[in-house]
Amino acid sequence: MQQDFTYDVLIIGSGAAGLSLGLQLATNRRVAILSKGELNAGASAKAQGGIAAVLDHKDQLQNHIQDTLISGANLGNPEAIQFTVEQAKKSIDWLIEQRVPFTQDPNDATGYHLTKEGGHSHRRIIHAEDRTGLAVTSTLLERAQEAENLDLLSHQVAIDLITDTKLGLPGSRCLGAYVLDQTTGHVNTYQAKAIILATGGASKVYLYTSNPDGSSGDGIAMAWRAGCRVANMEFNQFHPTCLYHPQAKSFLISEAIRGEGGKLILANGEAFMQHFDERLELAPRDIVARAIDHEMKRLGDDCVYLDISHRGREFVQSHFPTIYQRCLDLGIDIATDPIPVVPAAHYTCGGVITDQNGMTDINGLYAIGETAFTGLHGANRLASNSLLECFVYGHAAAHHIESHWQEAELDAHIPDWDESQVTNSDEDVIISHNWDELRRFMWDYVGIVRTDKRLTRAQHRVELLLSEINEFYSNYRISADLIELRNLALVASIIIHSAQKRKESRGLHYTLDYPNTQTLARNTILTPSNFDWN
Ligand code: FAD
Ligand code: SIN
Repeated sequence: MQQDFTYDVLIIGSGAAGLSLGLQLATNRRVAILSKGELNAGASAKAQGGIAAVLDHKDQLQNHIQDTLISGANLGNPEAIQFTVEQAKKSIDWLIEQRVPFTQDPNDATGYHLTKEGGHSHRRIIHAEDRTGLAVTSTLLERAQEAENLDLLSHQVAIDLITDTKLGLPGSRCLGAYVLDQTTGHVNTYQAKAIILATGGASKVYLYTSNPDGSSGDGIAMAWRAGCRVANMEFNQFHPTCLYHPQAKSFLISEAIRGEGGKLILANGEAFMQHFDERLELAPRDIVARAIDHEMKRLGDDCVYLDISHRGREFVQSHFPTIYQRCLDLGIDIATDPIPVVPAAHYTCGGVITDQNGMTDINGLYAIGETAFTGLHGANRLASNSLLECFVYGHAAAHHIESHWQEAELDAHIPDWDESQVTNSDEDVIISHNWDELRRFMWDYVGIVRTDKRLTRAQHRVELLLSEINEFYSNYRISADLIELRNLALVASIIIHSAQKRKESRGLHYTLDYPNTQTLARNTILTPSNFDWN
């Protein structure tokens, strides 16, 4: 049976962004946090390197601001950058208060070990060994389980937002969401005064990715269908070093390995980064990923190698215990052998446009974390600025919601999800086939190096898929796979269209047809009412 649930605050997503916002509000408000899978299955729990913040007195806020701007190829919004960098210490203090076990270093004035990653001019990455994400999310989940006013609900897949516009009512407010309960198969209605999209990124749109299966851009697609603008979706970041091994599904080799002296080499042992950038292995990610892609294509090789063996077994084992063990399980001893690596889709720099409080174009609807576009990352995210953004904007949105709270009753009549026109599908193969086809052509045509011709090919294919998927969606009963595929196809379409609009190469968007960077840096902003996809 379908059910109705009413909360003060509905948070869709239980990663770093959703948890930090939920914990701030649960003292005064009744909060639900939904996750479409297990609570700890998002990208946050996979984060390795750490969180960027100016903590050391030898570093300065201005350095972090400058590094973020440079890494973002001068497209980042200076106000968003300054705000985030200034709030960073407060966020780290809050995490320490929540009892996140960051790696300590009694010899450092901060008391913590700070590591380095590409694009950073100083050591400023606070971390918990090489499993920072898991340490953060497990701690925040523990705190959330202790909170009285907070319900953590797993296996609940949000399908679409409910707005008064969609119900034909006056105004422009988000009222709630329809959510598939995977344990019962029913679609329930959630109503709340504030609805937050904290659904992570969309890197699953590419065949090879460091991301978990759930990174299917659901929040971006839901916000688009509800009428929100999105920005800069052409900038999907490819992490330079994912493990290349047939049994290693999307395992990242942290940039902190390069920060601690790891060298990139070819199969014959030759270093190559000196041909691409004077910052060598610690150049921003877009440059390193493109260099690797270039070398692999030039030599016809399947991968390049990352070598940290010169730091010795004790160093490698104590600094990178997770990576060391995972590689050893696959027969690679990183204390003696180079690690085979390839670039893979890693992070969605664009997203749902928000202001400094996480507010979207629709009243009552917020977006935070990887789903959001705050302007922080520009054309290429600086390493370890993403978790930081989750906490800073999670806190900002919580503050905004609390300080604008109104006690009025929720009184909209929301119709139940209508299943009267659909039947059970007898052709689920269409879903798996389309899923595979989509991710493959996105990798081939909308990847690290683009051309107009490749983008046009991708556009024709995605249009066909979108119409097939929408027909399927209208006729058959909903499932988690169908929800994700529908969202992935829409997000792919948005990425392709955004890439076609950018007639220059900048940061992560590199096209052979327009290899130069224009003097004027502009965001690519798409508005749903100008398009007929949904
Ligand atoms: P996520 O953590 O991805 O959480 C998304 C949540 O939304 C999940 O709970 C999911 O179940 C839920 N959800 C999604 N769709 C729906 C739906 N339709 N209905 C209900 N629930 C839904 N960044 C750094 O700053 N430092 C690092 O060291 C770092 N390392 C990384 C390593 C890896 C391997 C990866 C993949 C990323 C890394 N990143 C790192 C990036 C960073 O981890 C992510 O950008 C960040 O964690 C995103 O957090 P989030 O809360 O926005 O989303
Ligand atoms: C890494 O550890 O290399 C990931 C860091 C990030 O994505 O910011």
